[in-house]
Amino acid sequence: MNPLIIVSHRVSRPQSSTAPGGLAVGVLAALRQCGGTWVGWSGTLADEPASSPQVSEDEGIRYATVDLPHSDFDAYYSGFCNGSLWPLCHYFPERFRYDATEYVAYQAINRRIASAVVSLGSVSHPIWVHDYQLVAAGRYLRAEGMNGPIGFFLHIPFPHVEMLRILPVYAELVRDLCQYDLVGFQTEQDLEAFRSAVRDVFGEEAIRAATHVVADGRKVGVGVFPIGVDVDAIAAQAAEAQSDDQVQRLVAGLLGRKLLLGVDRLDYSKGLVERFTAYRHLLESSPEHLGNITYIQIAPLSRVNVAAYAEIRDALEKAAGHTNGQYADTDWTPVRYLNKDFPHHVLLGFLRCANVCAVTPVRDGMNLVAKEFVAAQDPENPGALVLSNMAGAAHELTDALLVNPYDERAVAAALREALELPLADRRARHAKMLAVLRRNTIRHWHESFVATLRSSSQ
Ligand code: F6P
Repeated sequence: MNPLIIVSHRVSRPQSSTAPGGLAVGVLAALRQCGGTWVGWSGTLADEPASSPQVSEDEGIRYATVDLPHSDFDAYYSGFCNGSLWPLCHYFPERFRYDATEYVAYQAINRRIASAVVSLGSVSHPIWVHDYQLVAAGRYLRAEGMNGPIGFFLHIPFPHVEMLRILPVYAELVRDLCQYDLVGFQTEQDLEAFRSAVRDVFGEEAIRAATHVVADGRKVGVGVFPIGVDVDAIAAQAAEAQSDDQVQRLVAGLLGRKLLLGVDRLDYSKGLVERFTAYRHLLESSPEHLGNITYIQIAPLSRVNVAAYAEIRDALEKAAGHTNGQYADTDWTPVRYLNKDFPHHVLLGFLRCANVCAVTPVRDGMNLVAKEFVAAQDPENPGALVLSNMAGAAHELTDALLVNPYDERAVAAALREALELPLADRRARHAKMLAVLRRNTIRHWHESFVATLRSSSQ
């Protein structure tokens, strides 16, 4: 069987010192099991980058990475990817902006990454492209003669056509997605939204079956493949990390107080401002908790050149300062807000210590932190999960305390309920959520996608 070629904007090494996102966790798991090559950006910009990739190997995984050109990068990454597509896919039309030259840069980078794949010479190997940064790569791969099955998985939400059509080139984007043999989504809602876009671009006759659409006579497989986690590996790493120095420092710093924890990349889609307000409502309305809980929010900076991210950073600094100014005491800081990143195993160790984990994005494709929190708990004395009903994970983790993240007083009430949840209730909820995670593991995610992809071209 031909080994897999995985393509994504960033690649992640197994021993990276920063925490990998959901995409990297999933791809690493797939490549560890099936072997293969991971193609993407080297992390370096150059004035005239070489077109052929640098190939290396790390823990049995082959990496083929390319430098990207200075001239196009900002327009591609901060522009079309994170100024146009990201806000649109997360239903933030007010943060959406469009510049045709940025779309040209997006095409140029997609073509460059596709050429790096082609230069590996494995023309009939299955290729699995990941996420919104590389939608157009499939078209270039086909044009350059790759003739194996080519699949695409979208890690973030897909917007309904009524939102998508704000993008002037939306039809071209949908046509590009229809160049793949298989297009996978996190939830049924995302797939349904994709169908709305295919219907708009190709007409009602394109929607023929649950498993595929027909675009300009091409059969394009579609499916829902919710990304999961490796429950046993996470449980073991989280338990082992209890002896890690950083985890012990966190625990010592709590001085016996309950821990409310949030772990999110700093992004407006994560609902952090709303969460900070909810926490303030909790302190206002529950004097019995004053001095008895510490909220630690870990939020490493991201996409710092995009204006919307600078704005959200300012808003959070203000909100944390406001809450601490109002409620802190000489021996208590209610919110500890950190822009620092931690290695993945340390974060798992933190998650295991949390009495309550707040995962309240206003929109999220899946959110693996929610799943990792559940897997990291001690089943004898598990913490409670407060989860946004706007995260893909809410479709599976129905035994979390589900909230609408915009309803800040309801989130405050859920946080209070979570802090006070009796042990029997926590155990029962945790056991049910763990059973769900065991049914849909990370292994199931990549195996089912790759099996469907391989069969799509037979
Ligand atoms: O999961 C969405 C995603 O954009 C991934 O594609 C990406 O690796 C991660 O978030 C982090 O984003 P960025 O690469 O922009 O820092």
